[in-house]
Amino acid sequence: MASSSSTNNSTGTHTTAWDKSSLPDQIETFDDYKRLYALSVDDPNQFWKMAAQRLDWYQFPTKIKNTEFDCRTKRGVEIKWFEDGLINVCYNCIDRHIEKDPKAAEKTAIIFEPDTPTETHHRITYGELLLSVKKFANVLKKHGIKKGDRVTIYMPMVVETCIALLACARIGAIHSVVFGGFSANSVAERISDCESSIVITSDFGVRGGKCIPLKSKIDQAVAMPQCTTVKTVLVFQRNYGLENIKDDCSGQRSSLEWTDGRDFWVHEELKAVDDNCPPEPMNAEDPLFILYTSGSTGKPKGILHTTGGYLTYVSLTFKYVFAYEPGEVYMCTADVGWITGHSYVVYGPLSNQAITVVFEGIPTYPDVSRCWNIVDKHKINIFYTAPTAIRSLMAHNDSFVTRTSRQSLRLLGTVGEPINPEAWRWYHEVVGGGRCSIVDTWWQTETGGFMITPIPNLWGLEGGSATLPFFGIQTQIVDKESHLPLDPPSKGELCIRDSWPGQARSLYRNHKRFVEVYFEPYPGYYFSGDGCEIKENGYHWITGRVDDVLVISGHNIGTAEVESALVQHSGVSEAAVVGYPDRVKNQGMYCFVTLKDNVEPVEELRKDLTKTVRDIIGAHVFPDIIHFAPNLPKTRSGKIMRRILRKIVEPDIHNLGDTSTLNDPAVVDELIKTSPRTK
Ligand code: WT7
Repeated sequence: MASSSSTNNSTGTHTTAWDKSSLPDQIETFDDYKRLYALSVDDPNQFWKMAAQRLDWYQFPTKIKNTEFDCRTKRGVEIKWFEDGLINVCYNCIDRHIEKDPKAAEKTAIIFEPDTPTETHHRITYGELLLSVKKFANVLKKHGIKKGDRVTIYMPMVVETCIALLACARIGAIHSVVFGGFSANSVAERISDCESSIVITSDFGVRGGKCIPLKSKIDQAVAMPQCTTVKTVLVFQRNYGLENIKDDCSGQRSSLEWTDGRDFWVHEELKAVDDNCPPEPMNAEDPLFILYTSGSTGKPKGILHTTGGYLTYVSLTFKYVFAYEPGEVYMCTADVGWITGHSYVVYGPLSNQAITVVFEGIPTYPDVSRCWNIVDKHKINIFYTAPTAIRSLMAHNDSFVTRTSRQSLRLLGTVGEPINPEAWRWYHEVVGGGRCSIVDTWWQTETGGFMITPIPNLWGLEGGSATLPFFGIQTQIVDKESHLPLDPPSKGELCIRDSWPGQARSLYRNHKRFVEVYFEPYPGYYFSGDGCEIKENGYHWITGRVDDVLVISGHNIGTAEVESALVQHSGVSEAAVVGYPDRVKNQGMYCFVTLKDNVEPVEELRKDLTKTVRDIIGAHVFPDIIHFAPNLPKTRSGKIMRRILRKIVEPDIHNLGDTSTLNDPAVVDELIKTSPRTK
């Protein structure tokens, strides 16, 4: 393979002098950051060419950036990076490390930490990973999967999930991972949207001591009328071949339903394939994956990421933001079902030949020391999690932390929602013992990788601020009312001025909606949907979503989806869902529900509605408050005024704003009187 990275320092020793024709191995000083940031903005072609040189291409691109952000132009919004380059993501995550240094085959790629703590654990070397990925890719091929086909993956947090992603990338299939908490209905919706002919799942998953029947959910999903495309279901057997890990689900295995000709055990299929599977050279702009995320309205959006730009971006951000050095052990607690898992459990770490920990369980099982016990067991150097996990752990006695050593830790990270200064301090002082820097990384499913984030030890931190933009990221605050761009210091809605290689290219087969949601609100800019304040020192403070998307425990939940689930209940005539501030989860979910005539607002119905929401969307979605409201505040044209509902539940009832357009202002007083949030 033609490598363009002759100047790349793959030994990991620090480059002392930067020769300006390639990127430095690490960013060592604030001056380096400023110089490179200026270059990334003034000459993105030069900067991103150097970033692309960190990867190995079949054909290095001659064209670097070719993007249009302005929806008003004749061309319209179009994003292309490295468009004539040829590359394979899987090759860059595995093969090349071994080709450059055969000893890499013996080095650890993944450490698997099962749900139940065990003395022993499972380490997968880069050599073993390569073999498993090639063989599984051949199973996919045997079942007719080829370049461009969509593959739905519905798996627990196990090594096989990473293997499945990498195998798709190897043969050019487009993966669509659906988080294992989603209901059969949500899976069916996602399968049908991208028309997958194949689903990869596991018989069971185990989380927090509970057995999660994944395969039977797929049976239900595939049986749904909207789900017509699935011909094959490949089923991993949980912990197949890992005798040391107790399998709590084996008792239930005998009750699995099986559809002959459609369902196949992966361990059986693997016996029939060889281990020769060359990676498929992909165009840089060929799709790599689809990942569904909630919007403020309508169905989930199939965020589309492509090959060359995505890998260039996640690989560079991983290296610099975690200041990753060879041999270090890195752990991210996110599930591969979310973008954090895609970018910073799998692709970012492996493309840097890192050691990445795959944790099957949850931070509170068997007790709240679990994460720190794992840190000690595997000598973890870099630990990356969500503020919600931090807040739930800090609610317990500090001794759960302090009885562990944590001496291996060098760096801590957070993602998913704003971290309050109190939680930041606890993370810094108690978990990190005051020794470890914290990277508060702001980004989104749509951005592919980190956007606003510290780089360790280059500038001072302020707990709760994601600080400064990464290379190539030009933030812009715009005013919601006037739509004017505001120079810092300023507060308003967060937009991005120009393209970066990691950004989503479109929504799967719905470019129109992509443009409407992200590029029409503020023409010329990418609109993030978040509020933000930039202070005098340039530090960015994210204030949270400005649209109808909730961020609960680090997960995006569209209020429209919950509303549509609620009204599917036979007793409900109307529903309005809003968020309220919650100390642990960032936001709580507050559901105003208007019942049909003659339906009694009894306690039993509350439980029933909760069940309806979880059955329709997924078990990770939980209405915290259900308020039976005979009437909702509406405009004369019948539009529910959510702005007022948000104020009621915040509660901030003295700043309701303009209520003059309401059809019946008395409705608001009634809600205030009956809301558990205003009592
Ligand atoms: C939304 C994106 C990207 C990984 C996880 C969530 C919020 C994310 C931060 C942060 C404040 C944050 C934003 C964003 N968010 N990181 N460091 N500080 N808020 O991905 O599901 O696409 O959600 O999460 O509101 O828009 P996602």
